[in-house]
Order: sequence, then structure tokens, then C-alpha cells
Amino acid sequence: QEKINVAIDGPAGAGKSTVARELASRLGYVYIDTGAMYRALTWKALESGAGCEDEASLADILQEMELELRNNNGTPEIIVDGRNVTDEIRLPEVTNNVSYTARHPHIRKYMVHKQQELAARGGTVMDGRDIGTAVLPEAEMKFFLNATVEERAARRHEEQLGKGMDSDLELLKSEISRRDMLDSERETAPLRKADDAEEVDTTRMSIKEVVDYLYTRIQRKL
Ligand code: C5P
Repeated sequence: QEKINVAIDGPAGAGKSTVARELASRLGYVYIDTGAMYRALTWKALESGAGCEDEASLADILQEMELELRNNNGTPEIIVDGRNVTDEIRLPEVTNNVSYTARHPHIRKYMVHKQQELAARGGTVMDGRDIGTAVLPEAEMKFFLNATVEERAARRHEEQLGKGMDSDLELLKSEISRRDMLDSERETAPLRKADDAEEVDTTRMSIKEVVDYLYTRIQRKL
């Protein structure tokens, strides 16, 4: 059977990564988390003290950085310079700075090129913000997952409480809104639904319902 590429875009906290990962495993495809690539660079830029505003220093860091996206028995892991940073790249400091890193056109160009290489032979489910519009405009299946900001913040809140972390629902709501705004209003490859992407409102759907729905849509296409 022919292996296609599946593009999944949408705003922060719409459930893209969980859905994409489960969908990939059901299809026997490779899951590629493009947000993790921007997060890894952000993590290193903060760690080195350079920050995320200056494109030239970010480009230098990117040049030296060894980034590996690894699959550990179905769990995606992010390795930077040999160090497992899978958890660290999800910390609030990285989350609240990553949209600055992702604004720079040369940084995006480099990341997009890498992502296109990873998908060159098909058989991937890739999630991000610009997959359907810029990274894989020829992807056979494109979805845009959406949910209200209240629902997205509430999901993140539950997730953090579930992990035993402190969580402030109102703060989450404002952080998510701010990240959406930065991602939607940047000049290079802003967050936008591709014309040929199918929009799925996941507000009242469980993860399983979303995965089942996308899987059915894909099976019909294959
Ligand atoms: O998906 P995730 O929330 O991990 O993405 C983190 C950030 O990385 C996004 O808010 C966005 O600024 C950036 N990003 C992007 N393009 C992508 C994936 C992520 O600009 N394809």
C-alpha cells in the first residue's frame, strides 16, 4: 500500500500531538513533532543565555546544535547534543519563548528543509503550524484541528494537575491566547488553515473520537 503524508496543523493545545502520535501508530507511520524542533532550539538559546530575539545568534546555535528526534518504544524523545531534553522543552519558560524563535525567516527555512527531508519518502504524520501551507503543500491529507481557547486551556490545566503540577487556568488561557496571536500574526508562514485542509472542531470530542475520525478519512483516501 502506498504511504502518504498527513499534515496536522492548528493552534496551541488543540490536541494535535496526542492525536498525531496515535494516528501514526495506527497507520504504522512515523510521527514528526515539528514544534519540538523549535522548542529544542529555544531551550538551547535560553540555556546559553543568547535568548530568542537575535536571528544571527540563533542561527549560530542551530549550526552547532545536534538535534535528534528519537522513538523510544512509541514515545518520541528529543535529544540535543546527546542530552535527553524531552521534558525540559515543555517547561513554561520554553513554551512562553518559542514563538519568538519561530518568527525568524532563516530559522524557519532551515527547519522546513529538515522537515521536508524527513517526509520525503512518505509515511509520516507531521504536526505543526505551517505543515499544510508551507512544509508539505502537496500532502495527500491535511487537517486543521481547532477548539475554543477555553477548552484548550482547560485540557492543559487538567493535564498539569494530573501530573501533580501547579496550574492556573486563567494564566494558561492568557498564555495560549498570546502564543496563538504571535503564531498567527507573524510574517513568515503564519498559523493558517490551508485551503485544502479539513477543519475539525475538537471542542466536544475526545482524543479517541478525533483519532477515529481522522483515521476513517484517511482510509477512505488510501
Ligand atoms: O506544537 P508546539 O506547541 O510544540 O509548538 C511550539 C511553537 O513552535 C508554536 O507555538 C510555534 O511558535 C512554533 N511552531 C511553528 N511551526 C511549526 C511548529 C511549531 O512555528 N510547524
